[in-house]
Amino acid sequence: GAPVQIDISKLEPGQRVVREWRGQPVWVVRRTPEMLSGLEKLAAGNVLADPESENTNQQPGYAQNAHRSIKPEVLVLIGTCTHLGCSPTYNPQPTVQLEQGGFFCPCHGSMFDFAGRVYRSVPAPTNLVVPPHSYLSDAVIIIG
Ligand code: FES
Repeated sequence: GAPVQIDISKLEPGQRVVREWRGQPVWVVRRTPEMLSGLEKLAAGNVLADPESENTNQQPGYAQNAHRSIKPEVLVLIGTCTHLGCSPTYNPQPTVQLEQGGFFCPCHGSMFDFAGRVYRSVPAPTNLVVPPHSYLSDAVIIIG
């Protein structure tokens, strides 16, 4: 499939935009400072299955860092659960399941943080996938 351009100039902190790329949903979230500091807290705890994203199949090398992205505030993910492919919901605010907010898969209850990192003891085996992407400008991301 052809690369897809996503304009993020109007994406406010805490908002998500969804676009399709190669038949899959791509999510872009502009993370708030609170979301970013929450990532550190989760990584320091014992709640994530792969907090350092050591499974290198799940993100390009340039996104293998603490925030799993090129720019800390901009998260880019494939929005497909790594268990059986359902579409997790976006929860910018805390929920009953997700104290810090994040992504929740309604099919079998898998939970992911604001970097798409999977929690322990849920069915999904790996973190959500970061697609190959780059910046055409500050305002435009190219997926693919
Ligand atoms: Fe998401 Fe099973 S498909 S938890």
